[in-house]
Amino acid sequence: MPNPSRSDVIKPEVRGLSAYTLQHFDAGVKLDQNENPYELPTDLKREVAERVLRRPWARYPEFVPAAIIQTLAKFTGWPGEGILVGNGSNELIQASLTVTLGPGRKLAVPQPTFTLYKLMARALQAEVDEILLDAERLTFDVDKLLEASRTSEVVVVSTPNNPTGNLFDRDALVALLKNAKGLVLVDEAYHEFSGQTAFSLLPEHRNLVVLRTFSKAMAMAGLRFGYMMAHPEIAREVYKWKLPYNVNIFTLTAAELVTERRSLLNQAIADIIRERDRVFDELQKRASVRAFPSKANFILMKTARPAHRLFDALYSQGVLVRDVSSYPLLDRCLRVSIGTPEENDRFLVALDQALENKNGST
Ligand SMILES: Cc1ncc(COP(=O)(O)O)c(C=O)c1O
Repeated sequence: MPNPSRSDVIKPEVRGLSAYTLQHFDAGVKLDQNENPYELPTDLKREVAERVLRRPWARYPEFVPAAIIQTLAKFTGWPGEGILVGNGSNELIQASLTVTLGPGRKLAVPQPTFTLYKLMARALQAEVDEILLDAERLTFDVDKLLEASRTSEVVVVSTPNNPTGNLFDRDALVALLKNAKGLVLVDEAYHEFSGQTAFSLLPEHRNLVVLRTFSKAMAMAGLRFGYMMAHPEIAREVYKWKLPYNVNIFTLTAAELVTERRSLLNQAIADIIRERDRVFDELQKRASVRAFPSKANFILMKTARPAHRLFDALYSQGVLVRDVSSYPLLDRCLRVSIGTPEENDRFLVALDQALENKNGST
């Protein structure tokens, strides 16, 4: 029997890709995935579990999860006909790209950024126009992106950008929306930490798609939930590709309750922002570290040491960060998520230890 993975059964564009994956490491201080270090209150979790116990598990969820859509519509102020929910925002990124990209179509994307956009576009056999950030400051090259947007079915911008932490300027976004031939996907996975959102541009711009996740500020990464806001005409098209019953009843119930009680998260978000600014100031004091200003819940930093050496030196002290040095322009860079004050202190102590340690300093 022929080996299907080596024959033409699998598309060459897929065989040529590396899978989106992350090696698992156990560590006492986990600062590698930009998660919220604070769990939701136990009472709230218990309430979710009790509500789910009262629902039938043997039955499918509703075809259109009306309750959460209504809750989100009330929370955001965007009409429910323009909202889609997903099993994580990844699923909605995939759905939006699948209905827009394919052979002979193009995605324009700044680089470095969240790796999934390019991976999915390639798997869909679309062309990918990668617009490098400024090599020194890692800011967006707006002019090049505007130019690429004129010939691309989709432009995607992560703002704040993962892994650099910087924002896409609002005026530049308006120009992009006016110029673009196709959709402009604005991935707001970290917007709660930035105080900036493209939301108010939605009514004016039918080509704007705003993506949000409950995995970061909303402290629900383990339950997988995200949502998309767009003009109802666009939402209707993306909906055609979305799998039926994509969000399970546990997650739907939790997302509803967490959205209704959103103010419970305010303190944690404020603490993370305060800690981000403190860690940034601390990093600035270290002559051998260059920290990039961030509006997210993580900080990108560069040192003179090879990133894998510094990663190992931190890990050996129980601190897990993300080695992003294989991304374009990010040689010698690591990304550290903001944890609790104690976790951040442990990171800073481990960093000083690692940078002083001559053994691995090459
Ligand atoms: C920019 C960006 N978008 C989307 C996601 C994925 O979010 P979700 O967990 O909702 O799939 C991430 C996760 O790290 C991210 O950094």
